[in-house]
Parts: sequence; structure tokens; C-alpha cells
Amino acid sequence: MRGKVTVVGAGMVGATTAQYLAQKDYADIVLVDIVEKLPQGKALDLMQAGPVVGYDTRITGANSYDATAGSDVVVITSGSPRKPGMSRDDLLRVNMNIVGSVTQEIVGRSPDCVIVVVTNPLDAMCHVALQRSGFPSERVIGQAGVLDSARFRAFIARELDVSIEDVTAFVLGGHGDTMVPLPRYSTVAGIPITELLPAERIGEIAARTANGGGEIVQLLGTSAYYAPAASVVEMVDAIMLDKNRVIPCSVYLQGQYGIQDLYVGVPVKLGAGGLKQILEITLTDEEGAALQRSAGAVRELVEAMDRLGAEAQ
Ligand code: NAI
Ligand code: 2OP
Repeated sequence: MRGKVTVVGAGMVGATTAQYLAQKDYADIVLVDIVEKLPQGKALDLMQAGPVVGYDTRITGANSYDATAGSDVVVITSGSPRKPGMSRDDLLRVNMNIVGSVTQEIVGRSPDCVIVVVTNPLDAMCHVALQRSGFPSERVIGQAGVLDSARFRAFIARELDVSIEDVTAFVLGGHGDTMVPLPRYSTVAGIPITELLPAERIGEIAARTANGGGEIVQLLGTSAYYAPAASVVEMVDAIMLDKNRVIPCSVYLQGQYGIQDLYVGVPVKLGAGGLKQILEITLTDEEGAALQRSAGAVRELVEAMDRLGAEAQ
């Protein structure tokens, strides 16, 4: 039987996620948005691409949640994107309300689903989805590390003029300016890039990676969507096809890396049912301190949400 994936938010990231996912042809898709006719129109357009591209994926657009019932995975992209000059953190108040209400709609209808959060500020929104769903944390996971690592990989491949196929990279931490690219664990065919590039150049590439989202906002006037959507689909593949991929995702840490009760990006094993294992890799003092700084930035947002939540009551 074909699986079922719901994508909430039929905007740039959501619709592109539905497009890439449809091409995989292993799951039917429900696209949900509050804007009337938008998800229906995009779903119909994507369905009509099927005969040309070659997929049988059924894609349904909806403004309510009944069609989402029984989803295996629900991707939450609904929210406001970052505009020029706006930090991810500025999005906090508006997106926490959206993610909270969407989560509530989802969980009753798909009580066994895995939720993949995309809405920013990412790590903080994972907390909202975890809290509102009441799901075990293995089934609420955030997408950020795949994208951040893909940016790092792309820049490394261009710099060394090698195939992207041979480049692996890890970026950990929160999905923000404090994210932590790890050159020691980033390799070309197994060779750490620290042996292939001077430290100064690696520093520049790592800085460009950390600013990867902002660079695109400056160019487009809105945030990226091709690479984010491709990254979401890599996670959905891992879950739906039980691939046990080892990729960085934002997961709820309970003591790992010395971080307690906080969503932060770390390497995990991802497969059927969501998070299967958190991998604890050895970090140097400097890398560990950078991860703690990044976790501190996420914690500030979570505390800010607690304050906003208290004010609203
Ligand atoms: P967009 O504005 O194109 O799409 C968002 C969609 O959400 C809109 O169609 C809007 O109508 C819909 N929406 C708003 N409230 C809703 C609700 N209550 N229920 C259902 N739908 C609702 O924005 P875009 O570019 O698709 O970005 C979406 C989110 O993803 C943003 O928060 C953005 O910052 C984030 N993002 C996260 C990335 C990551 O790596 N985690 C990467 C790129 C974007
Ligand atoms: C990005 O990194 C804005 O989170 C989004 O492109």
C-alpha cells in the first residue's frame, strides 16, 4: 500500500516539497494551506505533471484537515518566511501560534505520524510541535542540518572542483547564525577537508554556510526553498523507506552532548518511526563550546516563547 504524507503550508517550501516528493512516487500527498484554492490549484498542477515526469502520486489540496487523516509523515512548513532585515527570531511570535494550531489539527487525525518541522525559528518550533502534539520526541524532528550541511557540501565541492557525490559534511547546532559547521567531520572521499584546504579558507566557507539562508534572502527577497525542500524530502525518504540514514537533524536532547531538554541539531539515525538513535561524536573543546553557544541561542528562544505564552494567558 502506498504511504501518505501531508505537507502543511502550500507556499514555496511546502509546494516544492510536494513536487520533489511526488517525483519519488512512493506516497500520496495532501497539501494543506489556509489560503483558499491555493493548495487545490497547486495539487492539480502537480498531478498534471505526473504523466510527463512519470509518477502516479495522488496529490490532494485542502483547506481543512480531514483529508490528512492517517498520514505517516506530516511536514509543517506553514508560517511566515523571513523577509530582508528580519531575523529568524523575529518570526517567533507569529509562527509559534501557527505551528501550535496546525499541530493540534494534525495529531487527532494522524496519531501515529512522524512530524517533520520546517517552520522557523526551527528549533524553537520543534518545541511547540512536541508540546502541542504530546508525541514522544522520537516522532517530532526538525529539518535544518540536512540543509545546512548541503550548503557546506556544495561550497566545498565548488572550492575543490570535485563531485558533490564525494563530499560529506556535518553542520550541527541550532538553525541560526550560531550553527556549527564541523570541518574535521567533513570529508572528500573520506579525506577530512582540514587536509585539503587551508584553515583560513575553511573558516570563510563555514561562515558562508552559517549565513547561507541570509545570503539567499538578500538575493530573492524571501527565503530559500529548493534546497530546503530537497532536504525535507531526504528526511521523509529516510522515514518512509526506513533507510536508517545518518544525517543531522534537530532532535530533543536529554543529556546528550551535555544539553538538557532542548532541540538542537546533532547527527542521528533516522528511519521508520522517526528518530532511532542520537549519535554522540567526540568534539574538541572549541567545537563543544560552539555547540553549547548555539544551544544557548535556542534556549533563549524557548524561554522567550514561555514568556510570550504566559503573556497571552
Ligand atoms: P511561504 O510564505 O511561501 O509559505 C508559507 C505558507 O504557509 C503560506 O502559503 C501560508 O498561507 C501558509 N500558512 C500560514 N498560516 C497557516 C496556517 N495556520 N495553516 C496552514 N497554512 C498556513 O513561506 P516559505 O518560503 O514556504 O517558508 C515557510 C517556513 O519555512 C518559514 O517559516 C521559513 O522561515 C521556513 N523555512 C525553514 C527552513 C529550514 O531549513 N528549516 C528553510 C526555508 C524556510
Ligand atoms: C534558510 O536557511 C531561511 O531557514 C531558512 O534558508
